[in-house]
Amino acid sequence: MGELTLTQCDVVYSVPRTQQAWRALLSWFGFFFQIFYQIIGVFAHYPLLSFSSSSDSSSFEPVPAVDQDLPPLRSSSAAGDDGPLQKLTVVLDLNETLVCAYETSSVPATLRTQAIQAGLNWFEMECLCSDKDAEGITKTSYVTVFERPGLKEFLKQLSEFADLVLFTAGLEGYARPLVDRIDSDNLFSLRLYRPSTISTEHREHVKDLTCISKDLCRIVIVDNNPFSFLLQPDNGIPCISFSAGQPCDTQLLDVILPLLKHLSAEKDVRHVLYEQFHMPEWFQKQGIPASS
Ligand SMILES: *[C@@H]1O[C@H](CO)[C@@H](O)[C@H](O)[C@H]1NC(C)=O
Repeated sequence: MGELTLTQCDVVYSVPRTQQAWRALLSWFGFFFQIFYQIIGVFAHYPLLSFSSSSDSSSFEPVPAVDQDLPPLRSSSAAGDDGPLQKLTVVLDLNETLVCAYETSSVPATLRTQAIQAGLNWFEMECLCSDKDAEGITKTSYVTVFERPGLKEFLKQLSEFADLVLFTAGLEGYARPLVDRIDSDNLFSLRLYRPSTISTEHREHVKDLTCISKDLCRIVIVDNNPFSFLLQPDNGIPCISFSAGQPCDTQLLDVILPLLKHLSAEKDVRHVLYEQFHMPEWFQKQGIPASS
């Protein structure tokens, strides 16, 4: 009788113990599955984020590395036929791509202090804003500008293999003095401001690349706002937005520069960018059909 009771007790207790073990194992698997799922989810559903939101350059792997020792692979046409490739044209957005600029009075003191302490290059500048006062005199305002880490080095290295164009939806009054500061070596061959953007059925301030070049094989735009390039979705690199709150950002040198370098060896950048970002599908999800 006593033995039987003991056995029953054993049975009674052994079941929960097994269950506990299984549960622990399952939740352990669940944990890994969640992490895995999140990574996959980010890559699969967010073309914007597939470009890495952190300084982790390993997420850049989908783009094949450029082998410096080998000539870039060419399609069927015999090598030498077309001569050397024309220089790549790289169109760069300004605010939140190369810098972040805020009206000085709107920058919280703590944000400014943290960004400066973290080592961000910054400056303050006076600029003309579009508003005019009662007498019709253009008002000046003060803008605090934080440079995206690596900015100067990025522009310098990029200019060695590409023609640089600055294209901002901002007004010249604010953008010109800003670009003068970040581009003291005059590396931009062209600067375009808001009046060069166009309005489409779907968005305003769209940057139509055909106003820079009719040949879309060798032109690419880097912009944190993908709607800027909705007219040429396969020519765009949707980069992560930069703000003063991200002083450790390394996108320019670790992610964007290597990609642009890779593109500079491609006869037509569009298939690479399509494979990388699938922007036409992304626009379609935003209700913007490919035809527009
Ligand atoms: C730059 O972008 C930030 C973030 O969207 C915005 O708050 C700021 O007003 C922009 N600066 C200019 C000068 O447009």
